Amino acid sequence: MATTQFQAPRGTQDVLPEDAPYWTYVEAETRRQAHLANYGEIRTPTLEYTAVFMKGVGDATDVVEHEMYTFLDKGGDSVTLRPEATAAIVRAYLQGGMSSRPQPVKLFTLLTAFRHAAPQRGRFREFNQIDFEVIGEADPMADAELVALQWRLYTALGLRDLSLEVNSIGDRVCRPAYIAKLADYFRANISELCEDCRRRLEINPLRLLDEKKPECQAVLNSAPHSADNLCGPCLEHYQGWLGYLDAAHIPYTVNPRLVRGLDYYTRSVWEILPRVAGAQSALGGGGRYDGLAEVLGGRATPGVGWAGGIERIILELKDQQAPVPPADRPCVYFAYQTDAGKRQAFQLAERLRAAGMSADLAFGDRKLGKQLGSADRIGAQLAVILGEDELANHTITLKDLRTGEQKTIPEDGLLAELRPDHGQTV
Ligand code: HAM
Repeated sequence: MATTQFQAPRGTQDVLPEDAPYWTYVEAETRRQAHLANYGEIRTPTLEYTAVFMKGVGDATDVVEHEMYTFLDKGGDSVTLRPEATAAIVRAYLQGGMSSRPQPVKLFTLLTAFRHAAPQRGRFREFNQIDFEVIGEADPMADAELVALQWRLYTALGLRDLSLEVNSIGDRVCRPAYIAKLADYFRANISELCEDCRRRLEINPLRLLDEKKPECQAVLNSAPHSADNLCGPCLEHYQGWLGYLDAAHIPYTVNPRLVRGLDYYTRSVWEILPRVAGAQSALGGGGRYDGLAEVLGGRATPGVGWAGGIERIILELKDQQAPVPPADRPCVYFAYQTDAGKRQAFQLAERLRAAGMSADLAFGDRKLGKQLGSADRIGAQLAVILGEDELANHTITLKDLRTGEQKTIPEDGLLAELRPDHGQTV
């Protein structure tokens, strides 16, 4: 117990500096794509009142029923660490008066989310999402714009061999009859379903379609398809959406068993997976949620969006060995001898930093050779040497660490010597 107390909680992880370039890369590309399609950034609290997710995501979902970090705060209110962003963003849209702005409102956010499930590769209890939403728009072109944005983002990051699965699960007009039909079909074949499926049949027959157990597959594969049971407007919307995906040359596969795990979805649903997919491999998914605003106390407002898991995207970038820009290295490393040299090095490093150039130097009192070794190790481009000879002669020595070339200049010549656009020349 004593040791585990001082470890990161199960299902959470530290991002160490060597991994940080992956995060900055994914985040920067997300912001770039958001800008390209004119999405504004929103940030909502890490905590919400529990009702936002109970009502918004649905209390019969796995996420709400089993996975939420919910507790009473010191004032006695039930609060929840957000397990996702959509319900919170729609709450903020309503609370922030965004419904009276020109519609739709196009939003994106980068967030930390929490779900208490059994951790495994690609499944964490604390994880990060990229999230895009279009609120106040029923046009299927919005669904297509979001899918295209997600596809472009993943492709721009360097991911290859992805598959996009799509489906339509209807709306409150046509879905009840479809669910009744589905339930009848499962009841007629109940002997071939596992214990879990039988239990879930009574709660939410749609969710059975997600079941992965081999013994249930025969029945599930022959189940009626939601897309064959859509009402006229849902069918028109579905065909419209696929037509826009075709127009943008986004390759997709219809997966009639794709239903997604959150209750707010209506009509379009989709997921992006690596082609060699494992159990926890969806790199992102989304769908339309035309009933969500009403559930959260607002006027009927259509909406659609998606979220992608940043940890999973990074795992996939690593698996695919996609090149990621390395972290910026400091340009200049100061190496010194004696206290006077150290003080001068510190003073010069601060002047460089103030002038917008990155610089580093060693703390403590390590030997000059060790300091130059550090300069090499961190990938600095230039060493500025303030040794005993240099101090005596009021000079400094500049060493280009890539070529090994060296030259000595007057001690006040450094700033002039380095180009203001990062001082890479000696
Ligand atoms: P979701 O499918 O629950 O949808 O999550 C979206 C993505 O977040 C998943 O595809 C996966 O990449 C990542 N993810 C989910 N749970 C975990 C976990 N435990 N560990 C690591 N990554 C995870 C939503 O969250 C919806 N809010 C998406 C949406 C936005 N629908 C409409 N708008």
